[in-house]
Amino acid sequence: MDNRYNIIYNHYIKNIDKNGLEDYQILDWESKDAQEDRFKIFVDNFGLYIKNKSVLDIGSGLGNFAQYLDKLDEKIIYTGIDILKEMVVLSAKKKFKNIDANFFDRDIFYKDNICNASSDKKYNYIYSSGIFNLDMGCNLDFLDNAIKKFFELAVDGICFNLLDKKSENTFGPKYFYYDKDNILNKIKNTYSSRLKHISIVDSYSQNDFSIVCFLK
Ligand SMILES: C[S@@+](CC[C@H](N)C(=O)[O-])C[C@H]1O[C@@H](n2cnc3c(N)ncnc32)[C@H](O)[C@@H]1O
Repeated sequence: MDNRYNIIYNHYIKNIDKNGLEDYQILDWESKDAQEDRFKIFVDNFGLYIKNKSVLDIGSGLGNFAQYLDKLDEKIIYTGIDILKEMVVLSAKKKFKNIDANFFDRDIFYKDNICNASSDKKYNYIYSSGIFNLDMGCNLDFLDNAIKKFFELAVDGICFNLLDKKSENTFGPKYFYYDKDNILNKIKNTYSSRLKHISIVDSYSQNDFSIVCFLK
């Protein structure tokens, strides 16, 4: 087990082991609304286009984004991956009415065969919420590599969120904070040939922003 895995495991496993916590508490969100405000950014931007499309949710936690998508009453081919097997075991117990949901334990970096999480080689949409929040001592490299992977895997769109530098004093040093202009410019410069449109959405939270990319 490497250090990054240990930080993630130690952070979440104590919550999983506690009795009586709500999913959002296990996952370390301030509230269910705060968790869902982030899901809403994906749906606000891509909701019109996702019927019968594939969505890969990276760091799917307890399958709450899948539950959120299920309420849209659309058929969506959903794959959730999480580095922690314990999360995947709990997600896999959930029942879905509309979406076709599968969960796998995968680390986006150390398993090259991430695409084999389902029969699709690529996914129409990539979503990721909260995987960049903990300070793992290598966050900017982690983010660069993850964004590269998102662009490799996504056909139509990407949406992910980060903690905002301006909330550094709110949550303290356990977490990692990002400069939104730097991140935006870096993506624009590196992936201009794939980008139809890129935007930052920060109206839903004081502490957090989402990057939304429409791809060509
Ligand atoms: C804050 S939780 C959010 C869970 C879910 N996205 C949600 O919003 O409900 C972050 C999740 O990302 C997972 N994670 C962190 N790094 C990961 C990686 N490299 N690959 C896959 N999952 C990862 C953690 O295990 C955890 O379940």
